[in-house]
Amino acid sequence: MNIQQIKQRFEIIGNSPQLNGAIETALQIAPTNLSVLISGESGTGKEVFSQIIHQNSTRKHNQYISINCGAIPDGTIDSELFGHEKGAFTGAVDSRKGYFEVVNGGTIFLDEVGELPLSTQVRLLRVLENGEYIRVGTSKTQKTDVRIIAATNVDLHSTIEQGKFREDLYYRLNTVPIIIPPLRERKNDIYLLFKKFSNDSCEKYGMPKLNFHENAIELLVKYQWPGNIRQLKNIAEQISVIEKERYITYDIIKSYLPKSYDTRFPALIPKNSEESNYASEREILFKLLFDMKKDMNELKKIVHSIFQDNEQNIHMTHEQAHVLNNFIDEHQEHQEHQEPIHNPQYQRSQHEKIDIEDTHEIIEESLSLAQKEEEFIKKALAKHNGKRKPAAEELGISERTLYRKIKEYNIQE
Ligand SMILES: Nc1ncnc2c1ncn2[C@@H]1O[C@H](COP(=O)(O)OP(=O)(O)O)[C@@H](O)[C@H]1O
Ligand SMILES: [Mg+2]
Repeated sequence: MNIQQIKQRFEIIGNSPQLNGAIETALQIAPTNLSVLISGESGTGKEVFSQIIHQNSTRKHNQYISINCGAIPDGTIDSELFGHEKGAFTGAVDSRKGYFEVVNGGTIFLDEVGELPLSTQVRLLRVLENGEYIRVGTSKTQKTDVRIIAATNVDLHSTIEQGKFREDLYYRLNTVPIIIPPLRERKNDIYLLFKKFSNDSCEKYGMPKLNFHENAIELLVKYQWPGNIRQLKNIAEQISVIEKERYITYDIIKSYLPKSYDTRFPALIPKNSEESNYASEREILFKLLFDMKKDMNELKKIVHSIFQDNEQNIHMTHEQAHVLNNFIDEHQEHQEHQEPIHNPQYQRSQHEKIDIEDTHEIIEESLSLAQKEEEFIKKALAKHNGKRKPAAEELGISERTLYRKIKEYNIQE
């Protein structure tokens, strides 16, 4: 298959030389057994490259599994990947095959590989070096023939410096590096992608297609797209479905872009891709806000689940309930401030400077949110005698997140 055929088959849009180069490398190394490390910011489209490689390899008729290393709790990841013997740990009532056994002869895609715990990294290194692994709870060495394709959206060099990622594993994984450039470095693809996503959406929902004013296209191209193609797809779909005006102007596009992003300061964004991904202040701010929003959503889930819990397992005084109610109201207001996307009218009437005071307020609120969150976690843990699994379930968060939060807040168990 050539590059054009790959693009058609995998529905890849774009013609930038970097994108074509990445596809070419993927095709070249696909028939080999070399490990591949795909690097690129979040939303740049890493996943499809792993599929291209597998589908063009001699393993294509065997299994392909995609594993998000960040989504599996530390406590079970070894067993998921390498299997375990009956009785290996409390709750291991049966033996179980791990992915490396099941996928023998195929390909495993390890997404967010930087999230793997160090102990798992040791096991992975062994597989990469000689195809050997052991099930949890045994000492018997087993063999497997699995090709590993890994992906990361963080700079693993700094993860290595922080002692969180093994350097030897990094070099093993990175036998073939594939780098997916951020969208702002393939500007010629922006409008193509936007039109494609917009047309698809219009077709899907039976809406008339959009037309674009020249200025609107200029803004799309000028904007830095910190969330890359994922963000662009999201906004293209929103505009296609929500916007009544089908002739899209500069102002309409602007009203759907996050408020804190202003295209007037392009100098803050490094032009050179060799500069750190995080060199830009705005990117740091974006990450900060994004993380906060995630935390808030988590907290919202906690609060929601408490209110839904009719049996009132966690008792609240009237006063506490009142405080919580107020908090939820305020929080919802804040969400509107933070997410003008859902309310374009609101955004359009706002002036467009980065509002530092606003950010300050959000940070302060987030601090008090953190205290509340810590309280809920302690309560849930106490209620379940320190057992994390039921506590996490009750809180509506993953066990892994709970584990992280326990460490973060230094909660003594
Ligand atoms: N070149 C492209 N053409 C069309 N869609 C793309 C392209 N690159 C990425 N996408 C889409 O953008 C979204 C994000 O891609 P994904 O692979 O999940 O990003 P990440 O790099 O974070 O893993 C997906 O919906 C994907 O299909
Ligand atoms: Mg991904």
